[in-house]
Amino acid sequence: MIELKKIRALNSVANQMVSKGRGLLAADESVNTVGKRFASINLENTEGNRRAFRNMLLAAPGEGRYISGVILFDETIRQNALDGRSFLKVIQDEGILPGIKVDQGLADYGGSSGEKFTKGLDGLDGRLKEYVSRGAKFAKWRSVIAIGPSLPSAGNISQNAKDLAQYALACQENGLVPVVEPEVLMDGEHDQHRCRDASGMILGTMFEELKNMGVAIEGIILKANMVVPGKKSGQTATPEQVAKETLALLDEVLPVNLPGVVFLSGGQTELDATANLNAINQKGPQSWPLTFSFARALQDGATRTWAGKPENLEAAQKVLLHRAKMNSLASQGKYSSELEMDIAASGSASRGQD
Ligand code: 13P
Repeated sequence: MIELKKIRALNSVANQMVSKGRGLLAADESVNTVGKRFASINLENTEGNRRAFRNMLLAAPGEGRYISGVILFDETIRQNALDGRSFLKVIQDEGILPGIKVDQGLADYGGSSGEKFTKGLDGLDGRLKEYVSRGAKFAKWRSVIAIGPSLPSAGNISQNAKDLAQYALACQENGLVPVVEPEVLMDGEHDQHRCRDASGMILGTMFEELKNMGVAIEGIILKANMVVPGKKSGQTATPEQVAKETLALLDEVLPVNLPGVVFLSGGQTELDATANLNAINQKGPQSWPLTFSFARALQDGATRTWAGKPENLEAAQKVLLHRAKMNSLASQGKYSSELEMDIAASGSASRGQD
């Protein structure tokens, strides 16, 4: 069991992470994943370029108005920004909480089924201690759930739920707020109902495991997918349909003492993710703050504008801040697509499929 004093401190950090009008910037892509982002702008995946990329994302003046926390990758928590300050200091100076990805990526589960489990429990405690000593306040672990004709399997749901709970307990014992992220993937031909069913299965099982393990719900943040149809389903859901199904799911499975939910974008376009978040928050007061923890849906337009060129830094940061502001408004149900106009001239946000 986690002691009461520790739970209070964790709860205070969790509340800051979902404070009104702010959300998380996920900037914790592994070296490989950054390589994929760089391929789209024809940039070589070197340490220096990754540092310049993270500098573009993390050193935008005024970012703290919209961003409560940044999820960093191991490399970034050790690097300095281009002005010589550490990235940690850069975000702390903006009043942004530093978080850290602590899982070690995915591995095949059950042979060639297409299902995955997440690596990283080995040696986790030691890594958490080091991140705490560097100043991290929260952590992230991502599990993925695939939908297919006979997926997800009960075994995969169970293992991912147990691993998430074990990670969450280790974080809380070390004084870090665990962001628990069981992502139901958008890849696939499934409809919105199957997404809702699979999401209900993993969330229900995970909250059981968290309880069994003695994790303090007051000291965690849930990172969830929105309930959307699969990318290859040929179906689209309006923001109202996404909001309706997502809220029904959350009402069904979430404990009331959860401090908040942050959504991943999961391959939605920037504009879709913002419109969906807005619709979710327009449905009246919810039992929990519901905000964003986007990677692609905050970064894509800014990355295209930047294109790896120092002379584009300012313009790219302007695009990033605009996107962050739009999502800040959406987290309060105050967004409208007309607000995109002030940045439209720079052609920032993506409208088509990613
Ligand atoms: P996306 O918003 O690009 O889905 O990334 C969020 C994230 O952090 C996944 O773990």
